[in-house]
Amino acid sequence: MTPRTTDWWRHAAIYQVYPRSFADGNGDGIGDLAGVRSRLDYLRRLGIEAVWFSPWYLSPMADAGYDVTDFRQIDPRFGTLAEAEKLIDEAHQYGIRVIVDIVPNHVSDEHAWFTAARNAAPGSPERDLFWFRDGRGEQGELPPNEWQSIFGGPAWTRVPDGQWYLHLFAPEQPDLNWRNPLVRDEYEDVLRFWFDRGVDGIRVDSAAMCSKDPALPDYDHTVFPDPHPYVDLDENHDIYRGWRAVADSYPDQRALIGEVWLADPARFARYLRADELHTAFNFDFLGCGWDAPALRVCIDRTLAAHTEVEAPSTWVLSNHDVTRHVTRYGRPDTSTAAGIRQYNPVVDEDLGRRRARAAALLTMALPGAVYIYQGEELGLPEVEDIPADRRDDPIYHRTQGRDPGRDGCRVPLPWDESTESYGFSPAGAERPWLPQPTSWARLNAAAQESDPTSVLRLYRSALALRATESALRDSPMNWLDAPEEVLAFTRGDDFTCMINLSGAAMPLPRDGAVLVSSQPLSDGLLPPDTGVWLRTVRAVPGAVPGRRVLMPAADRAPAPGNVGEGARRAAVPANSPVGGAG
Ligand code: NOJ
Ligand code: CA
Repeated sequence: MTPRTTDWWRHAAIYQVYPRSFADGNGDGIGDLAGVRSRLDYLRRLGIEAVWFSPWYLSPMADAGYDVTDFRQIDPRFGTLAEAEKLIDEAHQYGIRVIVDIVPNHVSDEHAWFTAARNAAPGSPERDLFWFRDGRGEQGELPPNEWQSIFGGPAWTRVPDGQWYLHLFAPEQPDLNWRNPLVRDEYEDVLRFWFDRGVDGIRVDSAAMCSKDPALPDYDHTVFPDPHPYVDLDENHDIYRGWRAVADSYPDQRALIGEVWLADPARFARYLRADELHTAFNFDFLGCGWDAPALRVCIDRTLAAHTEVEAPSTWVLSNHDVTRHVTRYGRPDTSTAAGIRQYNPVVDEDLGRRRARAAALLTMALPGAVYIYQGEELGLPEVEDIPADRRDDPIYHRTQGRDPGRDGCRVPLPWDESTESYGFSPAGAERPWLPQPTSWARLNAAAQESDPTSVLRLYRSALALRATESALRDSPMNWLDAPEEVLAFTRGDDFTCMINLSGAAMPLPRDGAVLVSSQPLSDGLLPPDTGVWLRTVRAVPGAVPGRRVLMPAADRAPAPGNVGEGARRAAVPANSPVGGAG
């Protein structure tokens, strides 16, 4: 039975399944729906509330399924529509909601609309569904403008009759013309197709890029012009108002989740107004380094922008497009400022994983929804040494390898030691579509299952607590007075999260009982790069805001029984920097 509490999307823990790399049921070395179905119990036990599936539709896979031929069919590599329907029902039986990925900016060049457009004449209604234009130069031999593809190279490809079509991504991903009403109708119908099959939410790919300035003006690629000719045009909002009306036409809560990469939080928040998308991914947080002041600013900025529009924040550390954060946090520059992806041999993986564990407790304690990218719960690092001839990402190929691309975060998951692919495929299967490093043997899910100190067990403990702590669902956060390199905040009356990003061990608040910590405490102190959740006593009424005053435990409920590291008393020195009487 589908769980139907209200506004689930405001606080859910959502797990991203990248179907190609999650689990291979039929042994062809490619993940599939049978594989996902066989692992639903793992997801239930992990404690997540929803799964977002990266595209599973019919596709030539020029961009790993983000080039869709038919949104109403499942790619045979993944399974069948009947199997997807079964999977949705089974997930619901496990109490897990389902989110599918819809790609509005473009389709595959094998989509029926595009093959018709390519074969039709210039100026035809078929071509009007896309952006076909004559070229510049005497013979039209130059592209219509100088726009560059986000994947490298020009954003235009020429067809045999001499016209050019626009593709902001790969040439196999022609951009749709959202000014054409047929495009709007078709996509609203696709939403209904999946909502009618019980899907609870839609992830909207490249959501801020659909509309284009029809004059297709050149712009200087070294600056981000305002207004931009194709990023964040006002017309986008009309599109999502239409989508929201479709979602709202269902009696229960169907959510729209935007992939909106915008630096300006106010512009970002406009997509989350009451009649538009429900939530959007927080890329500001994803790009922020392991740096307490920067994270504090990012968190405050996020909350302020969302409060304006009464939308919940989301917290994201990794996804299928960026370097896994275990690796990012192990680099000298832990932000994505140096590029979302980079070749960088200097990685302290143990340090990165230690920070990633603490970051998990941070993200799961913040107000709003949290996203977990598959394998993050195993502490997987980026795979940075995939041989050139095994790389698949068009970014790698279109930049002639200057950008390593995204294969390193898409390597098939290690499940156990039963087969050569660490249980990703059954015995005797073809090799996985991307090679798994041998070092992953020790990171497999089964091994972590039986190790109480593993990343997997930490995620499970934290997710279990998150699901039962009503303060983590409903209460706002309040920063505690803390040293600059420490993030400490409360949720509700008696929940405290403290993350130590400094190089020194830090005292904990007085009378706090540990609910879960990302590393063992050392002599009652919180070690560097460690996070902890505490049951703390209630604040004294009338305390100075921002300076929490902690009282003895006399009038509060006992701490819950063992969860994760166990509810242990933290031995806390009197001079606690966090909420010390003041
Ligand atoms: C964003 C997706 O997350 C990415 O994987 C894809 O390549 C582009 N959009 C184009 O669809
Ligand atoms: Ca398969």
